[in-house]
This record gives sequence, structure tokens and C-alpha cells, in this order.
Amino acid sequence: MYTQALNNNSDAADRTIEDAAHTTAFQARIDAEARIEPNDWMPAAYRKTLVRQISQHAHSEIVGMLPEGNWITRAPSLRRKVALLAKVQDECGHGLYLYAAAETLGASREELVDAMLAGKAKYSSIFNYPTLTWADIGVIGWLVDGAAIMNQIPLCRCSYGPYARAMIRVCKEESFHQRQGYEIMLTLCRGSAAQKAMAQDALNRWWWPVLMMFGPPDQASQHGDASTKWKIKRFSNDELRQKFVDATVPQAQYLGLSIPDPGMTQDEEGHWRHGAIDWSEFKQVLAGNGPCNRDRLAARRKAHDDGAWVREAAAAYAEKRKFRQAAQAAE
Ligand SMILES: [Fe+2]
Ligand SMILES: [Fe+2]
Repeated sequence: MYTQALNNNSDAADRTIEDAAHTTAFQARIDAEARIEPNDWMPAAYRKTLVRQISQHAHSEIVGMLPEGNWITRAPSLRRKVALLAKVQDECGHGLYLYAAAETLGASREELVDAMLAGKAKYSSIFNYPTLTWADIGVIGWLVDGAAIMNQIPLCRCSYGPYARAMIRVCKEESFHQRQGYEIMLTLCRGSAAQKAMAQDALNRWWWPVLMMFGPPDQASQHGDASTKWKIKRFSNDELRQKFVDATVPQAQYLGLSIPDPGMTQDEEGHWRHGAIDWSEFKQVLAGNGPCNRDRLAARRKAHDDGAWVREAAAAYAEKRKFRQAAQAAE
């Protein structure tokens, strides 16, 4: 018994020394800008951080289909309908690549989806706001996809290979989304006074929630340090938010719209400095009390339940194929 205990202790000590050596080699690879691949050794905390981030990203893509899907049947022309339909389908594709990337880390899609449906996993707070008019579809493409691009371009260089590669394709599609949104805005702003007012109203409602998409201010962010060291994150929340504001203000000026921030100023270096963000609203939305949190989860749960027969049929087909292949091999 004592011998066993001693053996266990020395095994544990060996493991600790081994882990330390692995950790040093792992960090050296990251520092050298090498990509970490699914079968490589990685610290448990790195794996956990990535599963959390990639699955939240996947959930956001899927839940993000709902506010825009709401307008597919009401798009004002065939051309707009085709573009919106394609965009919403792209978002579904993004969700699927991302679930597949999370699966390479050993998480199962079922457990990730169940956590989202149970309200335990987060998705981007922005998708808990309603789309009240057609102009909201323009603003979502212009600003929500625009903010997503700001966030995701640096992720194309993320240290985890499957996530970085998924982001390259996702970013190409996001830039199409941003352009089609901006074009909707441009058309409305060059249209009647009522159309321009609709565009301004949509901007007024979405501006602040979009700034919140970049996450809490740097001093309050919990995940920044380790993610930066591991090169999952390349810029801080506040840096990305500032880049977004600097890129967006001239676009709003070109549209002839005003940013709903009377405190906004331009500093000597040309940066547009936004006013104070109401973080209590952000916390409320994250806590499940945004305008549409309950509707979004209810819609996802219904879609999941309605799709149960498809999952069952696919599993039965896979089983039948496996059985047939085994029978053929035995002949
Ligand atoms: Fe997307
Ligand atoms: Fe998008």
C-alpha cells in the first residue's frame, strides 16, 4: 500500500515535470508563430478556452440567423431577397464550420448545442435585439457584420490551426455581408425622406449595442491575458472597438447619417472617441434579460425539436450503412 502510494506520488511528480516541459515547448511554438493542430499536446486551459470561444462563436452564427431570417419573406425586391437568403445561409455555414472546429478539440456537437439550448452557453449579445424595419437589415450587414470582420480578421492568425483556417473563409463571406448591408443603407439614404429617416432610426437603435459587441472594457475583461499570451487574441477589446469606430464614422458621414453619440469627438491623431457605453444594459442582455433573449432560445429549441426526425433518420441511415459494409466485408 505504501509502495503504491509512493509510486503514485512519483508518477504525479514525473507528470508535473513532463507537463512543465510540454508547456515550455508549446509556448515556444506559439511564440514562433507555429500553428497548433488537433493532435498536438496543449495545456488543458488552452483547450478549454478555445472550446468556449469557438462554441460561443458557432452559437452566435446560428442564433444570428434569426433576426435577419425574420425579413426574408418581406424583402422589398427579388434581388434583395436573393442576397438576404444567401447571407443567412452563409451564417448557417459559419456555424457548422465552427462546430466542426470545436469538435477537433474533443467536444461533441450535441453537448455544445445542448448547453446553448439550456441557456448555459453564451452567444453574442447583439442577436437579442429585434429587427423592426427593413433598414435594420441594412444596419446589421453594415455594422454587425462590420464589427464581426474587425474581430475575425485577427483570428485568421489565431494559434489554433482549424479555427484560423475556418476564419479565412468566414471573413471572405463576412465582407460580402458588410457590402450588401451598406448598399441597402446607401439606397435608403438616397431615397425618400421617410426612407432616410428609417435608416437613421435603425442606426440610432443599433449603434450602442454594436459597440458592446467587442466585449467589456479592457480593465474589466476576464479572458484577455492568457488568450493574448497564447495568440488566440491579437488585439484587446478596446483596441478593436476603436478601429471599428474609426472605420465606421466616415462611412456614416458618406451616408449623411449621424452617429447617435453627442459626446463623440475627434482627437489630434484623427481617432473618433465615443462617449460612455452603458455597460449595465450589456450585463442585463448577457444575463438573459435583453429584448429578445427568450424568443431567440424558444425559436432555437423549436427548430431543434422539429429537426429531431432528421437526426434520427441520419443516425439510422449511418447504422444501416455500417451494417451493410460489415456484411459485404464478411462475404
Ligand atoms: Fe457569420
Ligand atoms: Fe455575416
